[in-house]
Amino acid sequence: MISSGGPSVTLGAMSQAQVTITRRGLERVRGGHLWVYRSDVRDAEGVEGGSVVRLRDERGRSAGRALYSSRSEIALRLLTTRDEAIDREWWRARLRAAAARRAGLEKDAGAYRLVYSEGDLLPSLIVDRYGDVLVVQTLSQGTDALKGLFTELLVEEFAPRAIVERNDVRVRGLEGLPLQTGVLHGEEPGELEVSQHGVRFRVAPLGGQKTGAFLDQRENHLAARRYAKGRALDCFTFNGGFALSIAGVCESVAGLDISSEAVAASRRNAELNGAANVQFREANVFDALHELEQAGERFDTIVLDPPAFAKNRASVPAAARGYKEINLRALKMLRPGGHLVTCTCSYHMTEPLFLEVVAAAASDAHRRVQLVERRVQAQDHPVLLGVPETLYLKCVVARALE
Ligand SMILES: C[S@@+](CC[C@H](N)C(=O)[O-])C[C@H]1O[C@@H](n2cnc3c(N)ncnc32)[C@H](O)[C@@H]1O
Repeated sequence: MISSGGPSVTLGAMSQAQVTITRRGLERVRGGHLWVYRSDVRDAEGVEGGSVVRLRDERGRSAGRALYSSRSEIALRLLTTRDEAIDREWWRARLRAAAARRAGLEKDAGAYRLVYSEGDLLPSLIVDRYGDVLVVQTLSQGTDALKGLFTELLVEEFAPRAIVERNDVRVRGLEGLPLQTGVLHGEEPGELEVSQHGVRFRVAPLGGQKTGAFLDQRENHLAARRYAKGRALDCFTFNGGFALSIAGVCESVAGLDISSEAVAASRRNAELNGAANVQFREANVFDALHELEQAGERFDTIVLDPPAFAKNRASVPAAARGYKEINLRALKMLRPGGHLVTCTCSYHMTEPLFLEVVAAAASDAHRRVQLVERRVQAQDHPVLLGVPETLYLKCVVARALE
């Protein structure tokens, strides 16, 4: 356990090591990206994975400071283009700046992303806030080596009751890091309650998917409430995020998820909110949409929020077929004037491609469909221009005309 007054974590990893990058690598970071690939590393001899390094161009001029990984194809993650010391106070200032950008969010959101890695110029570090509990992910050798320091700083800056790590994410494998979860500070927090725009949710930061909830959809839950009405269907509901957010403006909502754990959590959340018009059911959405359509069911509002179908570029065509199938079936069941809220959290499924898929689904469903809103992930997951990978969630609101 690390207390605010306790011994400081050493900054031994912050050596004077130097890494030389190619002209192409330099152009990439000058163009706004924060990553330098291994193929653009000219010389990193003897540099320890996880170190903070000085970047040099091929003429020996300083190009800033970065985190070095000895395993990942992303060899360097830029911290700054300046020639400045990356010490404890540097990290504190970056954490404070990220927190300051979220000032005032607590009044609507009991849970939000306090630090969004590259989007907050803190590459490969994620910190989610669930009330007085913080959940940390260190996704590269560099941030993992500094986990103790981040824990100390987070305690000093935000005085959380507990800090846990949810480092059970596959990308850590690319860095040669183990998958692990555990308590970094305080006691194991167990399940806690958060309120998101007036809807109450039970969250288990050390259990459940992601860091306990899909915080990136928070603003889209609220947006869906502006359009939802009548009979609604929330596909891939997880803990009932969309379903419970729209329950108050709908006659009835049916929520579907393949995970029995998610369905049980959704039911508990419905009870917590006294939402008697919401029913959750364990089902494979692909089968359920087919059955509902065959049975002639009709809805005024349908939400589609599947897991990422395209995990890499090669799987985009297969993913597009999956997205088309669910969108086609949903559009067939929408009443005229009804709304479809359709999402993709695949980075590789770009917005233009996703709109093409929805348009093709509308055409096959013989429906005229208006594009009402194009949305992205919540603002506490900021998109950094120049780093396209920071924009992964797309949410399209569409209206079926006739
Ligand atoms: C992106 S999450 C949904 C997040 C949720 N809509 C929210 O706003 O919090 C995707 C969910 O889809 C579920 N899922 C994955 N494949 C499924 C399938 N074939 N049928 C139904 N649910 C599925 C997962 O269990 C997970 O809860």
